[in-house]
Amino acid sequence: MSLIKKIEFKNLGDARGDLVSIEANKNIPFSVNRVYYLVNTQVGKSRGFHAHKKLQQVLICLKGRCTVTLDDGKSREEVVLNSFSEGILIDSLIWREMHDFTDDCVLLVIANEYYDESDYIRSYTHFLEEIGSEHNT
Ligand code: TYD
Repeated sequence: MSLIKKIEFKNLGDARGDLVSIEANKNIPFSVNRVYYLVNTQVGKSRGFHAHKKLQQVLICLKGRCTVTLDDGKSREEVVLNSFSEGILIDSLIWREMHDFTDDCVLLVIANEYYDESDYIRSYTHFLEEIGSEHNT
């Protein structure tokens, strides 16, 4: 099964411009407690390099482009984000890296929980250990 869980959002736009509506527990599969965005991204500067113990997120590239690498400890897949009407769902216990940002990239992130540093797994080795212990429980 692919690690890339795409969500297509309906474009409600018309001749005046595009419009996309995101509603908790309707077109994204969780309640929303936090929204943040990455702007002024730097060409050649990658981000991420962590997993979350519990957090779920949806990433939408509103402008520009970036590449997201997802890894569940067994396989690794890449997806290019370059559409304001398409998101990806990143579940808990998925290692993510964001690469190849264009300088005009606007990356919107919608999350089901407030920021909590203790939910981060910032070491790939610890991530593999966490995945291993999940599989053994
Ligand atoms: P981080 O999640 O590590 O960024 P990225 O995965 O994009 O590389 O966050 C960078 C810093 O910002 C880190 O010190 C934590 C802080 N931060 C918050 O305080 N609140 C937030 O909602 C987020 C996402 C990050």
